Amino acid sequence: MSKHLQPLKFEASASFASKMDTQDSLKGFRKKFYIPKHPDGKDVIYFTGNSLGLQPKTIRSYVEQELKDWETMGVEGHFRVKNPWMSYHEFLTEQMANIVGAQPIETVVMNSLTVNLHLLMVSFYRPTKERHKIVIEAGAFPSDQYAVQSQIKFHGFDVQHSLFEIKPRENETILRTEDIEQTIAENGNSIALILLGGVNYYTGQAFDMRRITTAGHKIGAVVGFDLAHAAGNIELKLHDWNVDFAAWCSYKYLNSGPGAVAGCFIHERHAENFDLPRFAGWWGHEKETRFLMKPEFVPIKGAEGWQLSNSPIFQLAALKASLDIFEEAGMKTLAEKSKKLTGFMEFLLSEIHDKRISVITPSDENGRGCQLSIRVINADKNLFKAISDKGVIADWREPDVIRVAPVPLYNSFADVHQFAEILKSCLE
Ligand SMILES: Cc1ncc(COP(=O)(O)O)c(C=O)c1O
Repeated sequence: MSKHLQPLKFEASASFASKMDTQDSLKGFRKKFYIPKHPDGKDVIYFTGNSLGLQPKTIRSYVEQELKDWETMGVEGHFRVKNPWMSYHEFLTEQMANIVGAQPIETVVMNSLTVNLHLLMVSFYRPTKERHKIVIEAGAFPSDQYAVQSQIKFHGFDVQHSLFEIKPRENETILRTEDIEQTIAENGNSIALILLGGVNYYTGQAFDMRRITTAGHKIGAVVGFDLAHAAGNIELKLHDWNVDFAAWCSYKYLNSGPGAVAGCFIHERHAENFDLPRFAGWWGHEKETRFLMKPEFVPIKGAEGWQLSNSPIFQLAALKASLDIFEEAGMKTLAEKSKKLTGFMEFLLSEIHDKRISVITPSDENGRGCQLSIRVINADKNLFKAISDKGVIADWREPDVIRVAPVPLYNSFADVHQFAEILKSCLE
């Protein structure tokens, strides 16, 4: 493997890892999470926070509070309890907005990710005979591919002509921003929507969302992002970047549990555009008059106006517990540690000097989050099995990649060092 220049001088030793952990201002956060155990009784090395984040220990008490209120108050829990359910989702708005760099009016937590993508496309994918294409990255997450294909068909267009996949250059795995910009410019008149993953789930590449949004707007297209692998992972500035819309889940880096409630962003400039078509439900209706039960739909201004149903309170309670931890840690501090932690892992992998593995994730620390995708020669899954047997929880993504994500909230430099030692011993 080629060695990359690192801004920080790393050393391949347990003592260096231990020194880094001692200096880490976020080290106390690890004990706020349950770390699963290996059959030998030790903590596993958990590197799948990019798939399902670990459970914050506080979640139980947050959910129990709501169970208690339901037990003792019944329907009155909507109004006369510590956290009235009627407005519970509002308690999360500002914290979630901070995580994605949004204004509160631009953010809401609701539904699940693919559902939100569909709801947003109902409003923001308005194909015409001339302008009907959706641009995605080749190798986008399957659910996104299914979602955009079905939207194209729903509007009576044909996937072959209306879906445009941007591919990396030959013998490359990462998309170059200039190539994305050029593709957008070349297909200018026919593109209705650009919908990319903010961080690609397979390669771990973080796209330059600001530049892509600018390029999309220049040709008159709408630009949205699936932030499943970006929210809580990298610093985002959705408002400043002028992104039109985005959606993300909160069971990965946002640690809110399997199937947790998702997030949604709609730029402020669309907040009062009531001409945008949308699928409506009563929870998106103006709050003051919602209970007058009139047949005419009057949307709330901003992202809240896209809500359909009343909120899943236990899910929101779990998310609130997690967002409180994020607020305490701070996204900027997390991103700073993340760069060091992932940089350390990249350094240790480069020290292994084994041609059977190579990192396909960009080496530029601004071109990725915490995930590194390790391509295994001949797609040999035995390496993945071997590290799993030794207590590493990573994941295998077909055809040939082991994904590892050292998460700054609960992973340590010692985790990264132990992982590299295990990987080395398994290769030997
Ligand atoms: C990038 C991406 N998009 C979409 C999804 C689908 O999410 P959901 O099942 O919450 O709709 C996932 C799930 O892991 C994902 O990683």
